[in-house]
Amino acid sequence: MSVREELAKLENELKHCEQCELRRDCIGTCGWFGNPGSPLVFVGEGPGQVEDEYGCPLIGPSGQLLDKALWAAKMTRDRVLTTNVIKCRPKGNRTPDIAEAEYCAKRWLNRELEIIQPKVIVALGGVALHYLGNPEMRITRDRGQWFRTEQGFDCIATYHPAYLLRQYGRQLVAAKWDVFHDLVAARERAEMLSPGYQFMSEAPVQLFKLYKKRV
Ligand code: URA
Repeated sequence: MSVREELAKLENELKHCEQCELRRDCIGTCGWFGNPGSPLVFVGEGPGQVEDEYGCPLIGPSGQLLDKALWAAKMTRDRVLTTNVIKCRPKGNRTPDIAEAEYCAKRWLNRELEIIQPKVIVALGGVALHYLGNPEMRITRDRGQWFRTEQGFDCIATYHPAYLLRQYGRQLVAAKWDVFHDLVAARERAEMLSPGYQFMSEAPVQLFKLYKKRV
């Protein structure tokens, strides 16, 4: 089976997942988007309201900002793969706790990564950093530093786009530059390990043209 077929099979299984309480309070599970053959995978926290409505990761305000940051760093969403630590939106958009993140990610995210075998992972924000690194790591201190995940993948963390959306003034400018440098570092490493791979299409993807509201 090809990587694309294996991921499609996993996505089909994910659609029927009812293994934890989180599934009760959301519209449906939210999987991944992008190119299964990408050497570069972005891991966010979990679906928010817009992601739950559309069934697509990082399609709401955070995703729109991520798309702009990717474009600046010469990448587009169709040429990388975006996914989340957890697959169901927690009620009231609360941050998932470590136990919830582990329970979900061991069942789904780990299997995605096992199939994709990315050369580089970018952890977006603290939840992804705590899961892919360890709970002692801090996004403000450890972003921009390479580490190896338990599954053996090279990973770098950067600020979650939702964090950027809460900043203003000088802090916003500084955080945006940090994200830009982290994304370029990730792309350059992935490029070095997968020479010739195209990380950018001619135009950014318009996710709202590809996904319809599922409510
Ligand atoms: N935040 C995330 O981390 N992931 C999403 O899919 C949406 C918002």
